[in-house]
Amino acid sequence: MTSRKHDVANAVEPAKKSSISPADPCTIVIFGASGDLSRRKLVPALYGLAAQNCLARRFAIIGFARTPMTDEAFQQSAVDSVKKFADASTANEGQCKEFAHALAYVAGEYHHPEAFEKLKSRLEELDRAHKLNGNRLFYLATPPEVYPLIIEQLHKAGLAKHPNGKSWVRIVIEKPYGRDLASAQKLNQIVVKSFDEPQVYRIDHYLGKDTVQNLLVLRFGNGIFEPLWNRNYVDHVQITAAETLGVEQRAAFYETAGATRDMIQSHVLQLTSLVAMEPPAAFDATAVRNEKIKILQSIRPFTEESIKSDIVRGQYGPGSTPGNTSLLTGYRKEPGVKPNSTTETYVAAKVQIDNWRWAGVPFYVRTGKRLPNRVTEIAIQFRRAPHLVFRGQNLSTNTLALNIQPDEGISISFHAKLPGQEMKLKTVTMDFSYQKEFGGGERSAYATLINDCMRGDATLFDRADGVEAAWALVNPILESFEAHKPRFPNYAAGTWGPHEADKLLERDDRHWRKP
Ligand code: NDP
Ligand code: BG6
Repeated sequence: MTSRKHDVANAVEPAKKSSISPADPCTIVIFGASGDLSRRKLVPALYGLAAQNCLARRFAIIGFARTPMTDEAFQQSAVDSVKKFADASTANEGQCKEFAHALAYVAGEYHHPEAFEKLKSRLEELDRAHKLNGNRLFYLATPPEVYPLIIEQLHKAGLAKHPNGKSWVRIVIEKPYGRDLASAQKLNQIVVKSFDEPQVYRIDHYLGKDTVQNLLVLRFGNGIFEPLWNRNYVDHVQITAAETLGVEQRAAFYETAGATRDMIQSHVLQLTSLVAMEPPAAFDATAVRNEKIKILQSIRPFTEESIKSDIVRGQYGPGSTPGNTSLLTGYRKEPGVKPNSTTETYVAAKVQIDNWRWAGVPFYVRTGKRLPNRVTEIAIQFRRAPHLVFRGQNLSTNTLALNIQPDEGISISFHAKLPGQEMKLKTVTMDFSYQKEFGGGERSAYATLINDCMRGDATLFDRADGVEAAWALVNPILESFEAHKPRFPNYAAGTWGPHEADKLLERDDRHWRKP
């Protein structure tokens, strides 16, 4: 198994040319290859890896879906998605055509064993033709209801185990991993019947973002932050994952999910774990995942009472965004949404971590669609200076803000003396910008994670117990939401969510940062 230490050392170099050794020759099978994720993210990410020599010289990609398509049609759709969605710095007509030649397509129904036999023969044929050594990566990018069937069919077709002693077979499972604790446990049981845990890569694309990984580098690669990273110096933490987009064309999925399942259970709790975890013994899958799960287990479980007081949910109504005054449709009028839908598009919560490092330090988290800015930010708000030497000055507290996206960077605010005779202070910031320091062309989160999977590094993927611990936390929230019908809509599109979310902090004498 390769170590991520190597990766982190290279993370400081511009991403134009990777110095990571290429992965083993292998075949990547994408289930749901005709879909949105495959087109917008997976195929462009695989092309980016090929263009950066991170794929082995010999590789093959098989798209599998029900839609009938020839190899050529799939190759053409791949060229189109590379042109549209791949990182411009890797765009190269010749390379793109060469990449497309490695693509094949198998059409089939998931409940037909013959379809998996067809897939198996195609795999064997490509294995022989390109000497791929039987290494296989299966990527589940269908709606989640289909995952159990695909896993069982792979098992029955004898595709879940490696075909020879020197090869590997791995499976990447997209989020959402279940829709509550019981279904996640059931899925884990189905998975382990066919695959061994080290073969399973449960993906959360947030962990592939360079800025999310940089949070670990900031904390554990520097000597100056970690001593302050605790209840003695930190007043509270704010985590915001705000989107300007509405539900777009994903109502069929979103109506059954909502913001709690879609964002809190996965991305927001992942960020919370990384901010709060103890230093791992090493940067490897076991050590990092052991520390992350301890945080999920230390978060105070939500009760009916604390859900009422510490969680705010919302749904957007019609409104407009600051840059665009035309009226945006309310959620209930979006295509495919029920006119009386009670699905939440916004959640804010006060999360308490009951351990020695964080006792008494609230983590306020929020996420929502149709908010004024697209921004994902982690803000560490430090305590006030214990004694105010500069009388008459109204001093704010120091903030360390990690901007995960879109203006990737880190800034720290502190006070400086204004020039002049008088002792007047002003809050200033020291900024580090990814764009300014390293230029553009950062690697997509999907490229990082697929590459890690091909190299057998599961550090940035979730373990079965991690997924279940996250569901265990949100399960009571989902049950309570189900039992108590909300008064929706309760925030206008283009605003920062319901007023109750402001009150969540105001009652603690705090305020949301303006990201
Ligand atoms: P799509 O709805 O586009 O579905 C992908 C493909 O699955 C479709 O093209 C379709 O292909 C097939 N499919 C659809 N319904 C069924 C069904 N009932 N039975 C069998 N196959 C079906 O999904 P996405 O591509 O958006 O997402 C795929 C997975 O990735 C989902 O689990 C999603 O939650 C997850 N995900 C998606 C993200 C995104 O940005 N899109 C982001 C993060 C996670 P065909 O009809 O040809 O078989
Ligand atoms: C996905 C959610 O996992 O993450 C989407 O299903 C959300 O609803 C998306 O829009 C946000 O990802 P990113 O990388 O754009 O912040």
